[in-house]
Amino acid sequence: MQTELIRIQDLHASMPHIVRAAEVIRSGGLVVFPTETVYGLGGDGTNAEAAKKIYAAKGRPSDNPLIIHVATPEDAARYTCAEPAAYALYLRLAKAFMPGPLTVILPRQDNIPLSTTGGLDTVAVRCPSHPVAHALIEAAGVPIAAPSANLSGKPSPTSANHVATDLDGRVDMILDGGECDIGLESTIVKIDVAEDGEAYLTLLRPGGITCDALSCVCDRVEVAPAVSEQLGKDERPLSPGMKYRHYAPSAPLVLLRGEDADVLAFLQEQQATSACAILCYDEEVAELRPEGLLPVGGRADLSTQAHRLFARLREADGMNAVELIYAHLPDKSGLGLALYNRMIRAAAHTVLSIGTGGIPEE
Ligand code: TXA
Ligand code: MG
Repeated sequence: MQTELIRIQDLHASMPHIVRAAEVIRSGGLVVFPTETVYGLGGDGTNAEAAKKIYAAKGRPSDNPLIIHVATPEDAARYTCAEPAAYALYLRLAKAFMPGPLTVILPRQDNIPLSTTGGLDTVAVRCPSHPVAHALIEAAGVPIAAPSANLSGKPSPTSANHVATDLDGRVDMILDGGECDIGLESTIVKIDVAEDGEAYLTLLRPGGITCDALSCVCDRVEVAPAVSEQLGKDERPLSPGMKYRHYAPSAPLVLLRGEDADVLAFLQEQQATSACAILCYDEEVAELRPEGLLPVGGRADLSTQAHRLFARLREADGMNAVELIYAHLPDKSGLGLALYNRMIRAAAHTVLSIGTGGIPEE
């Protein structure tokens, strides 16, 4: 398949391309588009065949459901059938956070085929704020099913370059809208109704909308165990995607826990004795050798760390002769929980405590 790459600088001037891309979607083809989180690999969410093509292009297991992307939050009512209490909570979330990096899981209507939802009776709905994504969904006139536009097992793409590396020849079109702003995938919540009739949230994947922000809208926010813990062999996660090892760089990633000075001394020692890549804080750049160094942002600048994380993991992957990749174990507060969730899985839960004997932890 020939993949057409289109650079979108001025949305107005590019409308003819967007209209053409929307036609590709409507006729069952695949279009990669930018969102404020990561790039999405889009197809018609109401078309079972398009969903199958998406799974094939990504190399993704077909029991891992897709998110449908809608043009306005109210469009969710056309594809979901929530109880009134659940829908009222959805609308409160929509008012606070949509369009934006939040995905909400609700019971599915029959117009969303089971192949889109990986066989589930629920569907994940998201209304992205990126102008190109919005224009494409609106022009398509159908909800766009889209997972992140990476090959299964690779970090999510935050630039069209990453997308082309993974999917050139596997999709009809790539709309290049530059770098994604947030850099981590959307926050995913499920809405359920408790026995007392109150709707509540379960956080399935942390992202740009933090737990604290969700708590401002809903009194009861539970966190699914898979968000920060390693599930046992027989445990089933609430979100099928959580059971797959994602974002895995080819050299093992090891996360370091410890006092700043101890971790820095450890990194200096590793640089002197081995070929390693290091995802370091900007403040550490002057203290370390430049070889293999990948600054992720200031120590306290979590937004920049989120923005750069996946690109840095890809860069580390591309470095020759790197045996190990080191990174700091993020703190779990605020946006840190999303960084922690992605990094702990990329590292397959390998954490090394420095300054306490260096005993690896599960
Ligand atoms: O920011 C994002 O959410 C990006 C952009 C493109 O919108 N999309 C994205 O999609 O990250 P994907 O497919 O890479 O991740 C979606 C996750 C998967 O882990 C999947 O298992 C989960 O959402 N999911 C989708 N539908 C679900 C459902 N009905 N119930 C539980 N989990 C669901
Ligand atoms: Mg993904």
